[in-house]
Amino acid sequence: MPRPLIAGNWKMNGVSSSVSEIDSLIKGLKSDQTDAEILICPPATLLDRISNLCRETPVKTGAQDCHFNASGAHTGDISADMVADLGGSYVIVGHSERRADHGETNEIVRDKAKAVSDAGLTPIICIGETQAEREAGQTLDVLDTQLTNSLPDDLSGERFVVAYEPVWAIGTGLVPEITDIAEAHKFMRDKLKGLGVENADDVRLLYGGSVKPGNAKDILAVENVDGALVGGASLKAEDFLGIIFPS
Ligand code: PGA
Repeated sequence: MPRPLIAGNWKMNGVSSSVSEIDSLIKGLKSDQTDAEILICPPATLLDRISNLCRETPVKTGAQDCHFNASGAHTGDISADMVADLGGSYVIVGHSERRADHGETNEIVRDKAKAVSDAGLTPIICIGETQAEREAGQTLDVLDTQLTNSLPDDLSGERFVVAYEPVWAIGTGLVPEITDIAEAHKFMRDKLKGLGVENADDVRLLYGGSVKPGNAKDILAVENVDGALVGGASLKAEDFLGIIFPS
């Protein structure tokens, strides 16, 4: 079983003063032990500062998106190399908010994941069905299509992460039944094997969508769930620590 990853996605939240949450997180991790790898993806504006704070601590940092090109005339974008330059080691790609707000297709997501990998970083590739797709019984078909088309070729299992995030569960407090999470994650593992991914058992499959201290233990215990991608509950160190050390 791969080493679990508990990743926080701050989205478009956080200003200079939010950095104090990182101090609290680091303190909380010092006073307790976890086998999991811990990651914070702040807004790009805070990445430099937070990466510096996290140096020589167990907390890794990453970005929430990047361009698929390494450099060039792309106003407002950042590249994977820039993330690496600021000490980041992961980049989230294909989050449903980017797919919806910025029209990102599976093919764009694949190109971004490749750019991240080419920069020596680890892409966290997000997939997941909408409410309408779930109601139409299309969940596994959607995951099938997204996995088939969003993964770069030739990435072996330890080089990338997949996050299953049902769109309807993000920021809503709604969470799928445990059996549904188990089914989706088993499906993804089998699909990765079917796609011929080398070391498919080493791909970390995260669940994301309304993960909280109160439900983390049950979700993280599901077979083929190798961690969590956490939005709202990663903003406060106390909540995030409650997910890292669920009771
Ligand atoms: P949430 O967001 O934990 O606030 O539901 C999860 C995500 O979008 O990664």
